[in-house]
Amino acid sequence: MITPEQVREKLSTVKYPGFSRDIVSFGLIKDIRINGVDVVVQMSLSTNDPKVPQSIKDDSESAIASLRGVGSVTVRIDIQAPAQPAVAGGGGGAGAVQIEGIKHVIAVASGKGGVGKSTVSANLAVALEQSGARVGLCDCDLYGPSMALMFGSNERPMADPETNRIAPVERYNIRLMSMGFLIEDTSPAILRGPMVTKYTQQFLRWVDWGDLDYLILDLPPGTGDIQLTIVQTVALAGAIIVTTPQEVALIDARKASTMFQKVNVPVLGLVENMSYFLCPSDGKRYDIFGQGGGEREAARLKVPLLGQIPIDIATREAGDRGMPVTAADPASGVARAFHDIARQIRETSPA
Ligand SMILES: Nc1ncnc2c1ncn2[C@@H]1O[C@H](COP(=O)(O)OP(=O)(O)O)[C@@H](O)[C@H]1O
Ligand SMILES: [Mg+2]
Repeated sequence: MITPEQVREKLSTVKYPGFSRDIVSFGLIKDIRINGVDVVVQMSLSTNDPKVPQSIKDDSESAIASLRGVGSVTVRIDIQAPAQPAVAGGGGGAGAVQIEGIKHVIAVASGKGGVGKSTVSANLAVALEQSGARVGLCDCDLYGPSMALMFGSNERPMADPETNRIAPVERYNIRLMSMGFLIEDTSPAILRGPMVTKYTQQFLRWVDWGDLDYLILDLPPGTGDIQLTIVQTVALAGAIIVTTPQEVALIDARKASTMFQKVNVPVLGLVENMSYFLCPSDGKRYDIFGQGGGEREAARLKVPLLGQIPIDIATREAGDRGMPVTAADPASGVARAFHDIARQIRETSPA
């Protein structure tokens, strides 16, 4: 005699495609009927992708068929179209999508990798949250995802089976999401041309950010097609460009600024990271990457220099430990610099 519990147990071995979580815990199973040796399962699912129900159906049927003594197996899936909260319109180009419930989307960009873009994004997010705003942070860097590391979170976000939307992970009261979480294949091939637009739009619809004052987008480094597409796809309030004082980084910061101008996204300002080093033993300031670069470049681009962040051991350590320095030590000099940047952002884009 087959019981519904046995069937349910078999179904709990079936994973939702692309996720490590199973379809039972996702709440997909609506009904299990046993007629003698025959099994009929009713599921409900909201998706746009026809491959998802097909794969769930196939996997479920073979899982149930492995039960001893089972006769025929029927899996019926009721498919609903997912909710589409994103609406077209807003700044940043004709096709830019505004995300419902989010007041300001701010991109953090850099022409060059390794200048501290993710460090600035993370600490700015924390500073804005500490000032009382509701903040989300999205890691858009598929190849160097760093949010999981910087926020010490290995949790995988989960989809709500009713709405098919994915809830961000929360750390330090900040809603975190990484584009890398939602795809398994991060080969560059999927990120070419119109796929990027489609993927970015889909991603933004998938994530259930809730109500936010600020969503910070940590863009991938560089000013290529991917970056351009993201900034054209989302309606941005503005962009922050991170640079070091070195000429090579400044040249690339200029390119980033040009990219935003092209799509009519205002550059809110420059953040000069790794500006100087204050030696703890003698208190002397060392301008390791040169001096005044950020200030000159900001003047040239006619945008504010929002802040200068020193090279700071605690900042690097805190980032590696999974707690941005602004959260770990809100009274530190670096945290104060980030609070000052947050204040300027709030002035131009009020919560
Ligand atoms: N002001 C800083 N002081 C010390 N280390 C820093 C600072 N900014 C960034 N770092 C470190 O430099 C490395 C690169 O920073 P990251 O923010 O990941 O750069 P990006 O996102 O631009 O590639 C990280 O290990 C980070 O902890
Ligand atoms: Mg980064």
